[in-house]
Amino acid sequence: MVTIDAIRTMWWREVRAENRAMAELDFVQVRDALIASGGIRKTSPWRVPTAAEVLASRAKGSPEGSKFLTTEEHQVFVKQRRLQRAGVQKMQDAARPPALPPIDGIRYLRMLGRMHLALAPKWYLEVGTFTGRSLSKVDCNFVAVDPQFRLRSPLSHPNARQMHLFQQTSDDFLNRSLPNAMRLNLIVHFWTGYNILRYSCGTSSMPSG
Ligand SMILES: C[S@@+](CC[C@H](N)C(=O)[O-])C[C@H]1O[C@@H](n2cnc3c(N)ncnc32)[C@H](O)[C@@H]1O
Repeated sequence: MVTIDAIRTMWWREVRAENRAMAELDFVQVRDALIASGGIRKTSPWRVPTAAEVLASRAKGSPEGSKFLTTEEHQVFVKQRRLQRAGVQKMQDAARPPALPPIDGIRYLRMLGRMHLALAPKWYLEVGTFTGRSLSKVDCNFVAVDPQFRLRSPLSHPNARQMHLFQQTSDDFLNRSLPNAMRLNLIVHFWTGYNILRYSCGTSSMPSG
């Protein structure tokens, strides 16, 4: 196998694509290399394209009026374009208010744990228990409501004497089961459902029992 390196210039369109370079060959060099390697004879017909043909060939397949850059020019162009974009992005970022204010403060699970330590309630009502992460912060009797429990950890509540799980929606719980549960004194409520305010007002004045 004979390798012929006869690239005269690499040409790049004025776009950021990294895979669109075109190689312009030195056809005299190609011919010499082919003769030297025995691929063709000195007398074999050979025509070197004219400069106009080279230009026409380079322009083929590109939008009319396209500008072509050498490798060095293309590197400068890509760098400038990158800086330009970064500048525009920076201006846009500065002009746009943050979508959400940054959240600080302690996480809700820690807050829940602290509330329980401070209040030491006898009973806890949780609507929306899911895997039981928030429920695990509690160590007292509890009523947990969720239409589909996906408990991941054991119900480990050494101080709890009663643990009630209602696998139903909060509506069903409130309409059907709550009358029975009302005998419990539910002091700390944690609602992750949609009707927090509607019902928590009604349940927070439950009699102790
Ligand atoms: C965000 S997760 C609860 C996360 C949990 N409290 C914690 O902090 O680890 C919401 C839960 O609400 C439950 N849920 C959805 N609709 C409900 C409804 N109508 N009544 C009660 N629970 C509901 C879902 O099944 C889900 O498990």
